Amino acid sequence: MKGLVICFCLGLCAAGLQAQEVSLNLVPQPASVQLKKGRVLLTSTSTVYVDERFRIDTAYWESVLKETGIGFQWVGRSEKATIRFRLHAGEPQAKDESYTLDIRNRGGLPEVHALANGGNGLLYALQTLRQLVQQQGTEERFLPVCTVFDKPAFSWRAFMLDESRNFHGKEMVKRLLDEMARLKLNTFHWHLVDDPAWRLEIKKYPLLTRVASRGNFGHMVHFQNAESRLDSLFLEPPAQFYFQKDIREIVAYAHARGIVVIPEIEVPGHASASIFAYPWLGASSKLTGNPVHGDLYDITDPKVEQFLHDVLDEVMTLFPDGMIHIGGDEADYRRWEASKPVNDFMKAHAISTYSDLQVWAINRMSQYIASKGYRMIGWNEITGDNIREEAHVKAGQSEQLAKGTLVQFWDGKVALVNKAIAQGYDVVNSDRHFTYLDYPYETTSLEKAYAFNPVPEGIAQKDQPKILGIGAQMWGEFIPTSERLYYQTFPRIAALAETGWTPRAKKSYQDFRKRLAPFEKIWMDKGFIIHQKGKY
Ligand code: ACM
Repeated sequence: MKGLVICFCLGLCAAGLQAQEVSLNLVPQPASVQLKKGRVLLTSTSTVYVDERFRIDTAYWESVLKETGIGFQWVGRSEKATIRFRLHAGEPQAKDESYTLDIRNRGGLPEVHALANGGNGLLYALQTLRQLVQQQGTEERFLPVCTVFDKPAFSWRAFMLDESRNFHGKEMVKRLLDEMARLKLNTFHWHLVDDPAWRLEIKKYPLLTRVASRGNFGHMVHFQNAESRLDSLFLEPPAQFYFQKDIREIVAYAHARGIVVIPEIEVPGHASASIFAYPWLGASSKLTGNPVHGDLYDITDPKVEQFLHDVLDEVMTLFPDGMIHIGGDEADYRRWEASKPVNDFMKAHAISTYSDLQVWAINRMSQYIASKGYRMIGWNEITGDNIREEAHVKAGQSEQLAKGTLVQFWDGKVALVNKAIAQGYDVVNSDRHFTYLDYPYETTSLEKAYAFNPVPEGIAQKDQPKILGIGAQMWGEFIPTSERLYYQTFPRIAALAETGWTPRAKKSYQDFRKRLAPFEKIWMDKGFIIHQKGKY
């Protein structure tokens, strides 16, 4: 064994400065790493410069640098710094996430050059630097002499958190955002609205939070009982929601970490909570004034449309990242079927099926969202297809989803992905079999999550750029505690983050497991991984 190690060292020395590809403990695996000769000792006198064109959150950068054990001081001039984060000349390009990280040996001391076109590239260089620090004993820290050339395979790398079913709160969300940043995920999709509860303060409609934020998934039976609607004001669980100031705080926290935040406001279904607060919103509920669980918004009623616009107006002031998720999944059309006004409306407007009515309504939402400079995304039912092939659902015939909508696939056959692409839509792939983090490990093991290909078999080469990326979903029905949430999320989130970042040809599960070891240690120390080591 010793002999082998010596041969390996000699090989490296003989290679001298000649670059070679190696694997360090980086997750996600970069596009390319060239390891050069040796390593350099980090001293307590490092100086750090960040291009002033990129406004950093100093507290965050300091916390990451401190975690590496690098003792440092900020300096205002690049040439004075041992660690330099610079943007290329010219206008910074926010959408370009690529970066290079060059670690050089200057007479036994490190010189680190991070270079990018946009702020996220610099943030990713910081994450890579953090991961590259190697510790020997308790005191000394080294950096390998190397050059990392890196860029993501996919531009959309999302983690979704459902807090309607069970509320976890601000501190937990921040901890998750920290880990997203570590893994170079760039999109936080926040599912704050669903049947059990509405978790977002909307000033114009105070009952949404006063009344409809008191549920959780276990509490839904109670919601089904219309008589006890007002009693719920005095019942457990208490109101649990985000004030608008909390949302602003979390959005800023995410931005400091290179993460955009996309809120999901479900239309027309998964709307029981808001209908519970305001029964006139629901197609069936408005008939008697009592909320019907599983009801759909009566989107043919101008008052209901006005409610949705009012909600979106406030939502857009809170979430400035230019995207709104409109949900659109699992609408139980039987609620519309039971409504005479809805059926009369469809006849008058020559709308053929309830799927078409959904597309018609979603398109009006899309127009409204676009008029404010935002883009709409929704689950793949918004195409009007019968994605789950349910006997009682007729696919759309007369309406066509608005151009420019982003379609998030969670279920249905690959043929539907192809159809959406052929019709010109961009796609995010959240195939539930691979990306649903609430599924048990017996169903979706770490290895299975890792094997996910966001570009499924059967998509033509020319169409592959239409698949923008991947979403990992943490649905909350059976996640009552933070312990459960962490258990389900870690480490599978790392497998999905690498799937979104690393070119498929460079992925290897065995290698990933090896590189994951330091992350497992970090997440065990934080209490995120609490199950038997390595049994995923
Ligand atoms: C979904 O899982 N209903 C998107």
